[in-house]
Amino acid sequence: MNKRVIPAVVLAACTIAAVTASGADAVKSLRGDVSPTVTNSPPPLPPQQIQEGSFARAWKEQPPLIPHRMEKYEIDLKVNQCLRCHDRPFYQEAKATKIGDSHYKDRDGKQLDQVSRSRWFCTQCHVPQSDLAPQMQNTFRGGGE
Ligand code: HEC
Ligand code: HEC
Repeated sequence: MNKRVIPAVVLAACTIAAVTASGADAVKSLRGDVSPTVTNSPPPLPPQQIQEGSFARAWKEQPPLIPHRMEKYEIDLKVNQCLRCHDRPFYQEAKATKIGDSHYKDRDGKQLDQVSRSRWFCTQCHVPQSDLAPQMQNTFRGGGE
C-alpha cells in the first residue's frame, strides 16, 4: 500500500471506531431507563402563567390565550364548565369575555342558540401559557393587536 495512504486509512478506521463508541453511549430512549412494560410517569408541567386580563394576540384571528387557572374546569361530552362564565347568559355576571359570535354558528354559517358543537372542546384552540425560554429560536414577529 502507498505510504501516504496508510495514515489516511488508519485515521479513517480510528474515526469510525470513535464515532461508533460515542454513538453507542449517546443512544438513550426518551422513556429513560423505565422498562417498556411499565407505564412511565409524565414529566412535571411547568407552572402556568396567570395574569389579570388578556395576553396580547400575535395575530388578529388567534384564539385568545387563557389567562386564568383552568385545570378544574371539566369539559366532556355532556358538561362544559367554561360555559358557565363565558356563555351569553352568564358572561356579564362573571365579568368574563363573551364567547365570540363565530362560536354560535354552524359550519354552514347558520346561527345557533347555543355554542356550536364544533367549538365544544375549548382547549383544542384556547391554551394556557408558561413563561419559558423558547426551545428553538425563530424569527416570527406577531403582527396582531
Ligand atoms: C369562574 C369563571 C370562569 C370560568 C369557569 C372560565 N373562565 Fe375564562 N375567563 C374568566 C374571566 C373573568 C376572564 C377575563 C380575564 C381575566 O382573567 O381577568 C376570562 C378570560 C378568558 C380568556 C381570555 C379572553 C381574551 O379575550 O383574552 C379565555 C381564552 C378564556 N377565559 C377561556 C376559558 C376556557 C377555555 C375555560 C374552560 C376551560 C374558561 N375560560 C373558564 C372567567 C372564567
Ligand atoms: C376551533 C377553535 C376554537 C374552539 C374549539 C373554541 N374557540 Fe374560542 N376562539 C377561537 C378563535 C379563532 C377566536 C378569535 C376569533 C373569533 O372571535 O372568532 C376565539 C375567540 C374566543 C373568545 C374571545 C371573543 C372576543 O370577542 O374577543 C372567547 C371568550 C372564546 N373564544 C371562548 C371560547 C370557549 C369558552 C370555547 C369552548 C366553549 C371556545 N372558545 C372554543 C377559536 C376557538
